[in-house]
Amino acid sequence: MITMKNIIREGHPTLTKKAIPVAFPIEQKIKDTLKEMRQFLINSQNEETREKYELREGVGLAAPQIDLSLRMLAIYTEDETFENHHDYMMINPKIISHSAKETYIPGGEGCLSVDREVSGLVRRYQKVTVKTHLLDPDTDELIETTLRLRNFLAIVFQHELDHLNGVMFFTKVEPTLEGLTPIEFKLDEMKNENNKEETS
Ligand code: NI
Repeated sequence: MITMKNIIREGHPTLTKKAIPVAFPIEQKIKDTLKEMRQFLINSQNEETREKYELREGVGLAAPQIDLSLRMLAIYTEDETFENHHDYMMINPKIISHSAKETYIPGGEGCLSVDREVSGLVRRYQKVTVKTHLLDPDTDELIETTLRLRNFLAIVFQHELDHLNGVMFFTKVEPTLEGLTPIEFKLDEMKNENNKEETS
């Protein structure tokens, strides 16, 4: 199983290298590794396994982060509405089009390969259309598909795609992003309302 020991950190040369496409037909070993990457995310989001294995919580993981310079990544997360769950294992993903409109995460981004707090904001496309092969976790089948991702999910994807291109998010931070609308998390709004109630 993948733990924090397997995740390389900033300064490691693999993180700044462009990863190579996964060759078809895909070896079972590669499929198993991608499934382990997904399992890491699941374990990191479960309080019991997170504490037991001392994991940092994550919503995305790219193969270069486990020192495997291949173009594949896993995403396992809710979107900003907390109403839809997204579970993707992508092989050789490509952005085929994107919105002109940009957005950002108001608190900035974090990364399992970066152990320090990075201040600043990262501009990302608000919508991306992605062509990719998806690995089905149950059947091990590969499905070629086109995904339309927006808001938080689009940002997570662009962060992970950057890893495949050897780009770390902190090289893209800006102090402010005037004129852009940040992602709004539904839960934050609820928290704010609760805070208001508490303080009023
Ligand atoms: Ni990262």
